Amino acid sequence: MSTGESFYITTPIFYVNDVPHIGHAYTEVAADVLARWHRARGDDTWFLTGTDEHGQKILRTATANDTTPQAWADKLVSESWLPLLNAINISNDDFIRTTDERHETSVRIFLQRLFDAGHIYTGEYKGYYCVGCEEYKQLSDLVDGTGPYEGQLVCAIHSKPVELLEEKNYFFRMSDFADRLLALYEEQPDFIQPESARNEVISFVKRGLDDLSISRSSFDWGVKIPWDDSHIVYVWFEALMNYATAVGYGVDDELFARRWPATHIVGKDILRFHAVIWPAMLLALDEKPPARVFGHGWLLVGGEKMSKSKLTGIAPQAITDTFGVDAFRYYFLRAIAFGQDGSFSWEDLSARYQAELANGFGNLASRVIAMVSRYRDGAIPAAGELTAADERVRTVAREVTATADAAIDRLAIHESIAAIWQLVDELNGYITSQEPWALAKDPANSGRLDTVLATAVHGLGTLAVLLAPVIPDAAGTLWAALGGSGAVSEQRIGSADEWSGSGAVTPLERPLFPRIEVTA
Ligand code: MSP
Repeated sequence: MSTGESFYITTPIFYVNDVPHIGHAYTEVAADVLARWHRARGDDTWFLTGTDEHGQKILRTATANDTTPQAWADKLVSESWLPLLNAINISNDDFIRTTDERHETSVRIFLQRLFDAGHIYTGEYKGYYCVGCEEYKQLSDLVDGTGPYEGQLVCAIHSKPVELLEEKNYFFRMSDFADRLLALYEEQPDFIQPESARNEVISFVKRGLDDLSISRSSFDWGVKIPWDDSHIVYVWFEALMNYATAVGYGVDDELFARRWPATHIVGKDILRFHAVIWPAMLLALDEKPPARVFGHGWLLVGGEKMSKSKLTGIAPQAITDTFGVDAFRYYFLRAIAFGQDGSFSWEDLSARYQAELANGFGNLASRVIAMVSRYRDGAIPAAGELTAADERVRTVAREVTATADAAIDRLAIHESIAAIWQLVDELNGYITSQEPWALAKDPANSGRLDTVLATAVHGLGTLAVLLAPVIPDAAGTLWAALGGSGAVSEQRIGSADEWSGSGAVTPLERPLFPRIEVTA
């Protein structure tokens, strides 16, 4: 066990009605970078992801595919969702499925406690339901349908007709919590991020909260309400609990106390569930609200949210097969300011791959290692007296380590990577200006060449440690080539700029980011 602070990070749990696209992979990679960074900081880190398997949407998909929802979920999890994690190198510590017995057990405890404390009552509800969102909609969330849906009201997100439902349900007294939620947003200004999302949620809650219908009786694919088995729990209400059930809520108090509260990374479309409903549920039981809820932007195609239902989904493998896993991870976190929408384009991906990964970083690593091999038989020399240029490299290494670390605390992943890249640029400029190849021509400059090579190797070592959370494979290969001891992931962020190689380099067998001929 590490002695650091507890850091519990989650992704949303994904619906298993369909296969993953790069929008889902984006959420996973962002959370993964944060988890890896915190581990490298020495924090007591726990990274949870998983699948959301109950509800009408999954039931209907399974029925349409002539199978049971459980069999459908099992198939999608084993054939699509677990392989996705492998395909993009996700380092999750746990994977929760809402059909897991452990989840259902904790859900029943959570519900019973809410019921016993008087937060649940019976009522009736009539409203427009979007199965795609698994949510009752307000009229203001709906638009007029076009094409085959002409004359019908459709969900603005899914562009599919909503259904008018009337049900006798159990309700959660969410309206009781508006003031306490507003106080929470006030007292903990970074609770909802980014700022635009925070403002939106605050004005939503200020308009007053309705109670929430939390059960269904028209179908039975879900967790039964403990005191009334003719009802199942509303899928979102149950799904939100996964963040607590996965760390032992109601079953293992010690574990729960160690992990909770969590930092939730979610898409902006599901921010309200996490920033309003979920904390209200926790407050009702006198549990701590989440530590933070970050709503990231959407990957857009043609200006719209990329989505399978609109047939605009791109499979992550379409990118990783050509560019590799590291480039996939790097690109989305570097090119899109975390919290804003971003349009995916093959041209931009290709251009950044070439300029930043292949030329900027990969080539730097190859050149430095090749020069140590050629001029010093692979032995990393010790630095002699430092000039201003050498000092500057060390200063930049120290500064970017601190800046990148502070950016991660603000969940500004793109800023963190941009800060690290200052060191890539600094080192490239350093090599150009110091011209080690010219120094190597005259034995009188041998001491100076030692210092330049040592400085460059030192800088690369810092880069390997700082980039390991983002591009784990390339950073690991570089670290090994530099003769770094242990795995790069075991190095500490706090001392990333302190390592100075003293062993020998091993030439890279192939470039970290080989040139790619795009034949599209
Ligand atoms: N099952 C719910 C979440 C329950 S969490 C208690 C759900 N699942 S989802 O599979 O539809 O979406 C999961 C995540 O993927 C959401 O954060 C959503 O925002 C994200 N994305 C889906 N399409 C996306 C893009 N085009 N771009 C970025 N993220 C996207 O909602």
